[in-house]
Amino acid sequence: MSVRQPLVAGNWKMNGSQAESAKLLAGIKQGLGSVKKAQVVVCPPFILIPLAAKELQGTSAAWGGQNLDTHKSGAYTGEVSGPMLKDAGCAYVIVGHSERRAMYGETDQVVAEKFKAAQEAGLIPILCVGELLAEREANQTEAVVARQLDAVVNLVGVAALAKSVVAYEPVWAIGTGKTASPQQAQDVHRFIRARVAGKDAKIADNLKILYGGSMKGSNAKELIAQPDIDGGLIGGASLVAEEFLTICRAPD
Ligand code: 13P
Repeated sequence: MSVRQPLVAGNWKMNGSQAESAKLLAGIKQGLGSVKKAQVVVCPPFILIPLAAKELQGTSAAWGGQNLDTHKSGAYTGEVSGPMLKDAGCAYVIVGHSERRAMYGETDQVVAEKFKAAQEAGLIPILCVGELLAEREANQTEAVVARQLDAVVNLVGVAALAKSVVAYEPVWAIGTGKTASPQQAQDVHRFIRARVAGKDAKIADNLKILYGGSMKGSNAKELIAQPDIDGGLIGGASLVAEEFLTICRAPD
């Protein structure tokens, strides 16, 4: 079995002024020396990415976007492309976050195309999958997650997953304070890995699968201790440096 380096990524969503973000980044930077195992990533809003680049340049932390367009450049008012993120020093980009699926009409197909565009730009996509509460209650969790994952694999092939990260984010746990139990999360993570293993065991073994949904300093350790949970994608708790750093240290 491979040893997967844990990864903890902060998804700032649409939060932060220049001043607040500079303070947050300075706090994170100051604490990076205390993080032993995890790769630390921050994903600020587009307009704050240059600030993250300036603050985190030369540190062990990386930064990324929260979204990208499928096109490389051109007449796409309001959009930001993969090559632009790459040019701003991003290593990662989140694709298919449930908020984008639910509020901005991103279908499985669009998400798959964004995943492809991210890799074509040399970025590591963090592919978000996860079920709604109603889907969980209807025992559809595995079917939903499989459908979301398969859309990507069908477009880019399983080999492309080698240069990506998957984040399981049950929609009912996002921003609600209701975390999936370690066992609930582990069950879905195991399912995701097994589904990938069905196509390529080695890629499955190396694939980082993050958990997201009300992860915080106080519950990160037991979630990340699960065999198939390789880190976290953190919303609210990534906006407070000490809280975020506590999560980053959870795998140590
Ligand atoms: P919260 O940590 O605020 O629940 O958000 C999780 C999330 O959506 C990260 O992408």
